[in-house]
Amino acid sequence: MSTTNKDKILPVLPSVHWFLKGAPPMRANPPLHLLESHRKYGSIFDIHVPFRTYISSWEPEHIKHILVTNNRNYIKDPATRKLSLLLGNGLLTSEGDFWRRQRRISQPAFHKKRIEMMTERMLSETEAMLEKWGRKPPGEVFDLSDEMTVLTSNIAAKSLFGADLDNNLEIGKALLVSMRFITASFRKIFKLPLWLPTATNRKFRQAYKILDDSIQAIITQRRKGAAEEADDLLAMLMEARDEESGEGMTDKQLRDELITLFSAGHETSANGLNWTFYMLDKHPEVAQKVLTEIQEVIGGRRPEPADLMRLTYTRQVLMEVMRLYPPAWAVGREPLEEDEIDGYLIPKGTAFLIAPYVVHRNPAFWPEPERFDPDRFEAEKVKERHKFAYMPFGGGPRLCIGKDFAIMEMLAVLALVLDKYEVKLEATHPIELEPLITLRPLHGIRVQLHPRE
Ligand code: HEM
Repeated sequence: MSTTNKDKILPVLPSVHWFLKGAPPMRANPPLHLLESHRKYGSIFDIHVPFRTYISSWEPEHIKHILVTNNRNYIKDPATRKLSLLLGNGLLTSEGDFWRRQRRISQPAFHKKRIEMMTERMLSETEAMLEKWGRKPPGEVFDLSDEMTVLTSNIAAKSLFGADLDNNLEIGKALLVSMRFITASFRKIFKLPLWLPTATNRKFRQAYKILDDSIQAIITQRRKGAAEEADDLLAMLMEARDEESGEGMTDKQLRDELITLFSAGHETSANGLNWTFYMLDKHPEVAQKVLTEIQEVIGGRRPEPADLMRLTYTRQVLMEVMRLYPPAWAVGREPLEEDEIDGYLIPKGTAFLIAPYVVHRNPAFWPEPERFDPDRFEAEKVKERHKFAYMPFGGGPRLCIGKDFAIMEMLAVLALVLDKYEVKLEATHPIELEPLITLRPLHGIRVQLHPRE
C-alpha cells in the first residue's frame, strides 16, 4: 500500500495477501479468518483480494471515526451495494439526500410509542406459535430456526405493513437462496452475468420472484383496500410526498423500501433468537436466572411493554449473545475521498470491513473474549466501556432503524416461550456458523420442547 500523503509520510498498514495464501479460508469462513488475522496483525490491517483492498479494524475509535465523526466521507462498500440486486434502492442501500429523505419518512414508525403498540402484535404472533407447539407430539424434534423465521416474518409483515403472509417459510427459504447467491457472487473472482441461464442464476431468479411477488401483493392489497384506516409504516410511506414536486413514491420505490425493511427486519431478529436459545441450552445457570426473572417480573400474566423493559438480566443475556453472535456480523464502507485514521492513509478505492464479530472480541475491551458472561452488560460496566466496542446495530446516522423494535420483539418472544418451555438442543446436532449477510446456523438448530411443570 502506498505510504505518502501530501506533506507527511504515513506508516504502512500490515498487509494480508489473501489472494496468495488465505483466499480459501477467507472465503470459507470470513469472520473466523478475520479474527485470526487481528490476533496476528493487531488492530488494523489491509487485506488484498483480487481487484480490491479491504481494511479491517477492531479499534472502537477507528469505527467511531468512520461511522460518526467523518461519516459524510463514507458510502456503503461494494459488497453491501451488491444487495441492491435484491433490495433495489431502499433504506439499507440508498445514499445521500435520497436516503436522508426516506429515513426521515420512516423514522416516526419506530418511535417508542409505536413500538409499544406493535408489542401487542409481537405477543399475539408468539402466542399463536406456542399454540401450534402445544399440538406437537411430545418429544418431537424440530428445526427452531425455521420456526423463528416464520415467527419474525409474521411479526414484521403484520406490524409494519398490516399484511398476513401465508407463505412465510417459502419466503424465508427464498431469502436464504438470495443471500447465498449474493454472498457467493461477491466472494467469487470471476462471475457469470445474471442473464445467463445457469442453474444458480435460475435459482436466484425464482427466489427473487417469490419475494417480489409477495411484496407486490402487499402493495396492491393496500392500494385497493382500506388505506385510509391503516396507521402503520406502509401507510406513512404511501402518504409521503416529495417537498418540491408533491409526488408520492412510485410502486418501485415502495417495493424497494418494503423488501428492505422486511428482509432486514426479520432475518436478523430470527438469528438473534436462534443464538440465544442455543446459548441458554449451553449455559443452564444463566437460563435459570433468566427464568427466575421472567417469573418474578411477569408472573404468568400477559406482559405489557413496560414489563418487558424491566427484564434487565434477560436483556443483558441478549446483548451478550449478540456480542458473540452478532446477527449482522459485518458492515462495510468505502471512502469518497482519501482519509487518515490513526496516522494511516486510507486511499480512495479501498473499502472498510467493520465486523462486529471481531470488534466484539477485541481483548482490550473484552477480557477472555470467548467467555459467555451476561454480567458484562451491567449498567455500570456499559458506561465505562467505549461506546463503539459494541455495535451489533451499527452506529452513527446509519444506525439500525429497527433496533428498539428488535429488542422488544426478542424480549417478548423469550418471555413467552421460556415461561412455557425449556428448549433443549438435540445433543448430536452439529452447530456451525454460516456467515452470509447475517450470521446463521448452517444446519439449523434442532430442538425438543420440555414443558415446564
Ligand atoms: C437483532 C436484530 C437486528 C440487528 C442485529 C440489526 C443490525 C443492523 C445493522 C448492523 C445495521 C447497519 C448497517 C450499516 O451500517 O451498513 C442495520 C441497518 C438497518 N436495519 Fe437492522 N438489525 C436488526 C433488526 C432490524 C429490524 C427489526 C428492522 C426493521 C423492522 C431493521 C431494519 C434496518 C434498516 C432499514 C437498516 C438500514 C438503516 C439506514 O441505513 O438508514 N433491522 N441493522
